[in-house]
Amino acid sequence: MLATGPHVRLACDDEHMKDTDRSESQPLSERGSNRSQRPTSAAFRRFIASGWAEREEVLPEESPAAPYAAARRARVGAQFPGERLVVPAGTLVTRSNDTDYRFRPHSAFAHLTGLGTDQEPDAVLVLHPVEGGEQTHEAVLYFRPRAGKDSEEFYADSRYGELWVGERPSLEEVAALTGIRTAHIDSLADELAKDAGAGGVQVRVVPGVDASVEAQVNSARRGQSETAAADTKLAEALSELRLRKDDYEVAEMRKAIAATIKGFEDIVRALPRAVEHPRGERVIEGVFGARAREEGNATGYDTIAASGNHANTLHWIRNDGPVRPGDLVLVDAGVEVDSLYTADVTRTLPVDGVFTPAQRKVYDAVLEAADAAFSRASQPGVRFRDLHAAAMEVLAHRLAEWGLLPASAEESLSEEGQYHRRWMVHGTSHHLGIDVHDCAQARREMYLDAELQPGMIFTIEPGLYFRADDLTVPEELRGIGVRIEDDILVREDGSVENLSAALPRRAEDVEAWMASLRQV
Ligand code: GLY
Ligand code: MN
Ligand code: MN
Repeated sequence: MLATGPHVRLACDDEHMKDTDRSESQPLSERGSNRSQRPTSAAFRRFIASGWAEREEVLPEESPAAPYAAARRARVGAQFPGERLVVPAGTLVTRSNDTDYRFRPHSAFAHLTGLGTDQEPDAVLVLHPVEGGEQTHEAVLYFRPRAGKDSEEFYADSRYGELWVGERPSLEEVAALTGIRTAHIDSLADELAKDAGAGGVQVRVVPGVDASVEAQVNSARRGQSETAAADTKLAEALSELRLRKDDYEVAEMRKAIAATIKGFEDIVRALPRAVEHPRGERVIEGVFGARAREEGNATGYDTIAASGNHANTLHWIRNDGPVRPGDLVLVDAGVEVDSLYTADVTRTLPVDGVFTPAQRKVYDAVLEAADAAFSRASQPGVRFRDLHAAAMEVLAHRLAEWGLLPASAEESLSEEGQYHRRWMVHGTSHHLGIDVHDCAQARREMYLDAELQPGMIFTIEPGLYFRADDLTVPEELRGIGVRIEDDILVREDGSVENLSAALPRRAEDVEAWMASLRQV
């Protein structure tokens, strides 16, 4: 990693300081440049700013996401006529000193612009209200376009300079790509303030994304009341806008799941290497991560590679344990494609390729619970919460048959009981899309209590987790943790499709699939 100097100012500015200025009074925030040895002479500055070939000005084609994003903007605009809606992309996040995390735009921004990957730090989408005509709003995308190669930014700005971060877009290019009018970010403050204030246009901003944009909005709307509640309502509306996926989103989800299935195949092929390695779980994580970066943007969340008893730690992402023959390994992983849609799939695999009878007993119960939720999902009028109930009915009955419950299955399923939840404390389903836990700001009546609707994509992911230190279960079950997670689409006709069905789920199919991959 190269030393970059401070981000807030051009690194070369610091280099004009005399040594005597570099005193103990220099603030810590400016000391990052003390390592810099970039030349400062006027001759260097003139030389590096010149002699570059002309850039070919070819505008990109409109993105396939653009018309869908326009329709989404129209839908949210219709909910807030006459108001100005501000949707920031978010900022780069510092990892340490002058090193940032890879940029990922905020999900609402990605959804409304169709932009993905690392597009575009500090950008802001504004829906300006318009009167008359068919549209309630005009969208404008404010961002910092690239500077010319003759600028200091080009070679001296480690956050924005093309010599540091690669090719950056012009206003015209982003307009062509998104179909959205673009403007320089420097014009944002004036555009926000032009007719806001007390009695003026109401302004809402998605909260918690970009503090500097929020400050600009708050300054522009001084005198307006209950702004926090207004912002919450906007975040909620944008979250609920994603509850039903359009055709573009479904296609992106299919891509994410296809790449994820390839990643699971890679894992099976790598299992012998994982067994040999003292941190075999890391081998699994690494193999999947390589596939995710090759085929998509990244993993959609930290991979869980949990061997043996680690499967009973629900968010086991340390992944530093061994992978032992005879154990199960629970892998919860999803590829996020460049548009940022992510899969979320779990398979629990026998490391040797064959389940033991005890493992199989647990696995089959979890599979039965998943299938019960899946069947329930295809019934008309079913609510989201019913999927969990269907899975729990199965698990409570199996656990009762095995003599583990201190009551009958029915008593356990009552609100006062719930004993079976000792071995599955998480939920069975969540919406899935740009975020792995998508639509998280939606109201309860739109999420848990809502009927399933065409276009919804969600997980079904029951599990049973018997910790090694759980004295309430027989010894043969201790240390076994199983989850099976699939991604489900509600089709237009109300039927449901398991989008991840190409990855074997039944125990015998898993064994046959693993055997076939190991022969290659
Ligand atoms: N991988 C996170 C989840 O399954 O919800
Ligand atoms: Mn999940
Ligand atoms: Mn998962």
